[in-house]
Amino acid sequence: MAETNNKPVSYSRTIITELMLPTHAHIDNKILGDVLFNLMSKAAFACATRHAGSYCVTVSIDDVEFVQPIEVGDFVSFKASVNYVGNTSIIVGIRVESENMKTGMTKHTCSGYFTMVAKDEDGRPTQAPGLILESEDDIRRFLAAMIRKEIKLLGKVQMSDKIKKINVFEDIKKLRKERCEIGFEW
Ligand SMILES: CC(C)(COP(=O)(O)OP(=O)(O)OC[C@H]1O[C@@H](n2cnc3c(N)ncnc32)[C@H](O)[C@@H]1OP(=O)(O)O)[C@@H](O)C(=O)NCCC(=O)NCCS
Repeated sequence: MAETNNKPVSYSRTIITELMLPTHAHIDNKILGDVLFNLMSKAAFACATRHAGSYCVTVSIDDVEFVQPIEVGDFVSFKASVNYVGNTSIIVGIRVESENMKTGMTKHTCSGYFTMVAKDEDGRPTQAPGLILESEDDIRRFLAAMIRKEIKLLGKVQMSDKIKKINVFEDIKKLRKERCEIGFEW
């Protein structure tokens, strides 16, 4: 149902562009993952906070994948938009693109999903405005976020169930085909 304080996706869409310098890189001139991660986090914070109109914190980071390296001298853009709003949570999708200044060629280098929680002035989770979907892509992203959320929850339950059931004496035989060895007297 439409609520009066809903905000469109475009209201909080955020792009941070940075020039990658030697201080951002390994000795092989490729940009460090933590530099990219930090800027992704800033873009997610700005985007979620704009949407919420209040301070947001990160509660979870999912599916961050570094698919291609970035070089010193590249421009890198961190494109953030709200994909989904729950009650107090806001899922921000981030796409990272690098651009070679000389050739103008752009590549998709990284992406990920940041779940942020809106907080009130006393630091308690507070309801975020609903989302006005402005395109078919916005609808697809909202639906995809719902699927990701559902699968994550299911996966979490299954994983903790399986981990609780580990019996080292029984399950040690599963290690036979793995690339490890027991390095102490057993
Ligand atoms: C974020 C925080 C306030 C949530 O508190 P909480 O007691 O778990 O609150 P809730 O259970 O009501 O969860 C709040 C929302 O977060 C969502 N959430 C909680 N844990 C989550 C997780 N692991 N993944 C995705 N969403 C999660 C809940 O589903 C809920 O969403 P909804 O309101 O849209 O339904 C609290 O965990 C916190 O302060 N964490 C530290 C945050 C931080 O310091 N981040 C790093 C620096 S920014």
